[in-house]
Amino acid sequence: MTQKTLLRALAGERLPVPPIWMMRQAGRYLPEYRATRAKAGDFLSLCYNPELAAEVTLQPIRRFGFDAAILFADILLVPQALGADLWFVTGEGPRLSTITSEVDFSRLGPAADIHETLNPIYETLRILTGALPRETTLIGFAGAPWTVATYMIAGRGTPDQAPAHALISENRALFEALLDRITEATIEYLSAQVSAGAEVVKLFDSWAGSLQGADFDAYATAPTKRIISELKARHPGLPVIAFPREAGEKYIGFHQASGADCVAIDNSVDADWAAAHVQIDGCVQGNLAPGHMVSGGQALIDETRRIKQAFAKGPHIFNLGHGITPDANPDNVQLMIDSLRSA
Ligand code: CP3
Repeated sequence: MTQKTLLRALAGERLPVPPIWMMRQAGRYLPEYRATRAKAGDFLSLCYNPELAAEVTLQPIRRFGFDAAILFADILLVPQALGADLWFVTGEGPRLSTITSEVDFSRLGPAADIHETLNPIYETLRILTGALPRETTLIGFAGAPWTVATYMIAGRGTPDQAPAHALISENRALFEALLDRITEATIEYLSAQVSAGAEVVKLFDSWAGSLQGADFDAYATAPTKRIISELKARHPGLPVIAFPREAGEKYIGFHQASGADCVAIDNSVDADWAAAHVQIDGCVQGNLAPGHMVSGGQALIDETRRIKQAFAKGPHIFNLGHGITPDANPDNVQLMIDSLRSA
């Protein structure tokens, strides 16, 4: 019998108090994270240091007792393992070598070769399986292919993913070849994470909302579906969370369309609407606005309880609608947890 609350919710059980964790729960808003990152040197060195990456994964579990721990890593390690250059500019974000031509694409390695670079990530998971409290679920993750492709094409984060959309219209065959390579690498990566101890995996499609109509189906839904069906074939019973962020009405039916056990909802969507139109198909995760972790107060308490109430009739994992920001106050995280568990 499954005991962990997160796994129970993912199996479709409605719980009186939903399990809770937070996107980016290990991060710069925590002084202990900043101290460990300083010890590692920089963000990527932290990701590739299994002892220290396990340590920062555990920090929010120790401090807050979340029901799940998420592997500390980044979605952009997959492009790096495929051969792209990757670095982080402090205060600005990620930079990568760009892929806009067949020549750029031909420099990438095969999906099967990613493990040499990513082995330290699997080691982090192995450490965590022995270090987490018995009741805490270990979540592995990767970026969904579309979101990863937007970074690989532009070489950085972009507000509207214009370079990726431009490649789709100028050279769709190249774009689709890149998307396929990322999809294959993601299957390899997540499968290895499960073998190393991840009990659940989550696909982050942070830029799904910029895909419209048939492009959403082809480039957000279809690769997600392919990854999930291949993972479930290799690891029967593996629960998967999909996060097509800002999908709007495309959230409707996404459980069936993708095969995900849980669909994560961003905070642009009203919880009552999501309960009526998305949760009817299965477990949902979300969707408190991350800004409440900065502002706190009665509004945080009220909104936490409103979201809990809105999703009370079905399986729900409480979370933010997107990652917690570096300016958040850890006391507000505790207030959210207390409001959820006491209401
Ligand atoms: O959620 C967790 O705690 C697990 C670890 C995790 C990180 N990134 C650590 C991180 C996860 C799941 C991610 C996912 C990720 N990374 C996404 C998808 C989710 C989302 O936020 O939309 C994306 C788009 C990335 C790419 C990325 N990594 C960007 C754009 C940035 C810079 C922006 C920023 O917040 O600084 C990162 C850096 C990053 N990834 C940090 C952390 C803790 C901050 C790095 C630091 O310590 O300076």
